[in-house]
Amino acid sequence: MAGGAKDGMSSSFASSLEAPSSAPPMAEIMSMEALNMNCAARSAIHLDYSALFDLALDQLREERRYRVFADLERLAGRFPHAIWHSPNGPREVVIWCSNDYLGMAQHPKVVGAMVEAASRMGTGAGGTRNIAGTNHPLIELEHELATLHGKEAALVFTSGYVSNQTGIATIAKLLPNCLLLSDALNHNSMIEGGCGNQARKSRYGVTTTSGISSNCCALPIHTGRS
Ligand SMILES: Cc1ncc(COP(=O)(O)O)c(C=O)c1O
Repeated sequence: MAGGAKDGMSSSFASSLEAPSSAPPMAEIMSMEALNMNCAARSAIHLDYSALFDLALDQLREERRYRVFADLERLAGRFPHAIWHSPNGPREVVIWCSNDYLGMAQHPKVVGAMVEAASRMGTGAGGTRNIAGTNHPLIELEHELATLHGKEAALVFTSGYVSNQTGIATIAKLLPNCLLLSDALNHNSMIEGGCGNQARKSRYGVTTTSGISSNCCALPIHTGRS
């Protein structure tokens, strides 16, 4: 934060973080010992957290990126209808944009299976697989998914977002000379999956199969295009 604040917000952050004039010179705070000894001086640095967060929120509002989420209550058996608890009171609305495309999440058989499983095994994941093991119904689901898709195995993730991000990141990490071709308007989960690894990236605009094929044709053969 100290080096080169780019915009108004960062420069205000930087100025809020400035040490008081009584702060020790840099050379003195280089060792851990000196750091500990200067605790008292450092605690004198005043950081106004509320102002920082207010500033960040103001910026979000200014850029029209401050989100207000709809307060919704779905109505089982009446898909795609829901109650919107709007600021002016509850109101019935139609929701077409969830990932419950066919209303299966409220199908009586699905709800019944969940109630039966919860009655037998309780609710909650109980922790990650690493710590608490895998819930047996998930193992059964993975077997069923693998069979359905004719695959050796399946792995269930907590959301579509996490599966995209992790799947792409893992492939990009493992493949030598990996080149990711990504539509500029791809879902953020895919874009994030391509970040933070050694794979080369190429983004093209929304698309045109010709854009993709010209990208592919330009690739050297060892990038594993097929
Ligand atoms: C292409 C794509 N990938 C991933 C997601 C995220 O899925 P989820 O809501 O299960 O995290 C969405 C959600 O809209 C999507 O459209």
